[in-house]
Amino acid sequence: MTAKDVVKAGDVTKRVGVEVIRARGVDVDKLIKMLIANAGAEFASTYYYYTILRMHLAGHEDYKEICEDARLEDRAHWELIVPRIYELGGELPNDLVAFHNQAGCPAAKLPDPPTAANILQLLLESERCAIRSWIEICDMTFGKDPRTYDLAARILNEEIEHEAWFIELLAWERDKKSVPSGHFRRGEPGDAPYSKNRPFYIPG
Ligand SMILES: [Fe+2]
Ligand SMILES: [Fe+2]
Repeated sequence: MTAKDVVKAGDVTKRVGVEVIRARGVDVDKLIKMLIANAGAEFASTYYYYTILRMHLAGHEDYKEICEDARLEDRAHWELIVPRIYELGGELPNDLVAFHNQAGCPAAKLPDPPTAANILQLLLESERCAIRSWIEICDMTFGKDPRTYDLAARILNEEIEHEAWFIELLAWERDKKSVPSGHFRRGEPGDAPYSKNRPFYIPG
C-alpha cells in the first residue's frame, strides 16, 4: 500500500508526512519515544540542572560563560525538537515528573563536593550522553526521514562542540593540560548557530 492509499482526501486522522517515512522503514512509534526521551534529556537532565551547575562555577567567569552557552543551546535543542514530536503524531507526557523520569540521560545533579573540576566532568559526560542519543536518531532516520535527520544533525553538531569545550576546560582545570577545542566564543550567550533558525543574509 502506498502512502497515497493510506491517507484519503480530507482525512485528518493520518498524515502523509508520517506515512511516507513509515513506508521507507522508519519505526515511527519508536522514533517518537526516542525523541521524547531526548527532549527530556535536553530540558530536564541538562537545561534545568545546568542552571544550578552554572551558579556553582562562581569565581570562574570563563567556565560560567561556556556553561551558559551549553545550557541555552540545550534549551534551543528542546525547542527545536518538540514540534517534530507533535508533527509525527506524538505528544509530551502531561506530567513533568513522568517526563523527567523517562529522560534519555541521567540528571546532571550538582556533584559533591561541587568543585569546578567535578562540575566540568559532569558537564562533559552529559554532553557525551547527548552525542550518543542524537547520533542514534541520525542513524535511524538517515536516508528515510530527512526532516528529523536534519534537526537531529543540527543538534548533534552543537553537542560535539560542547564535548570539545568541556574537554578543554576539564583538562586545564584538573590536569593543567592544554587540550584545545578550537573554540573561542559564541557571538551571544547560547547563540546555537546550527539549531536556531537564522534569516538568510540578503545583501544590499
Ligand atoms: Fe543539547
Ligand atoms: Fe549540549
